[in-house]
Amino acid sequence: MKTNDIGIFDSGIGGTSIWTEINTLLPNENTIYLADSKNAPYGPKGKEAIINLSIKNTEYLIKQNCKLIVVACNTATTNAIDYLRANYSLPFIGIEPAIKPAALQTKTNSIGILATRGTLSSALFSKTSTLFASNIKVIEQHGDGIVELIENGKLFSDEMNSILTGYLQPMIDANIDYLVLGCTHYPYLMPLLIKLLPKHVKIIDSGAAVARQTKSVLEQNDLLNSLHVKGENTFFSNSNTEVMKSLLGTNYTVNYLDF
Ligand code: SIN
Repeated sequence: MKTNDIGIFDSGIGGTSIWTEINTLLPNENTIYLADSKNAPYGPKGKEAIINLSIKNTEYLIKQNCKLIVVACNTATTNAIDYLRANYSLPFIGIEPAIKPAALQTKTNSIGILATRGTLSSALFSKTSTLFASNIKVIEQHGDGIVELIENGKLFSDEMNSILTGYLQPMIDANIDYLVLGCTHYPYLMPLLIKLLPKHVKIIDSGAAVARQTKSVLEQNDLLNSLHVKGENTFFSNSNTEVMKSLLGTNYTVNYLDF
């Protein structure tokens, strides 16, 4: 069981930002990554549709004997993780926007959150925001269109530049000093965000924390792979595999799978 794969799924290719952190912290773990790019984006879909897609991804990974599943998608986590935990017996790791560290560290008492509509409207997000950020100003911005551009290979495009400029301006006007990235696709925007935001604004995402949490849950369940050999990493996409290949680089292959 310890050498079984960690399963990771996302609405598309963005969760590879989480896979990178897991692979850096736990290089000897075997992983299977599922990119449900055919159904991206999940953000505008309703809760029931997101749960159904999450079930489909989970059942595929369970058939591959995965020992733990990382829901590498904020929208799927905030809408479906309670259902998955209640209905399947293996451990699930979810991704939530890092509101708490931003709220604790802000000096201007103003933070920005960029996430999908599905995440921002979820009960889990409101609960976290109320719990940790009720005394500060929180500028919430939905990232409509961003996931679609990344999935279509238009990460560094004039279109992306223009929508980001519009999304960030109200945050700049509100003098934020922290920007929380609430979607696993968004860490790929980092060079653009650094260029567009004032220098004092710090950008935080949840990737490293998720990798640490994955390690800790594997340890608690005695599932950590103790073999001292580099793990195997398998990537599947049910859409165009080329964009994902360009994000991962030449060391990895991406297989087409009709799931
Ligand atoms: C999406 O599919 O809309 C974004 C995925 C995420 O929320 O991480």
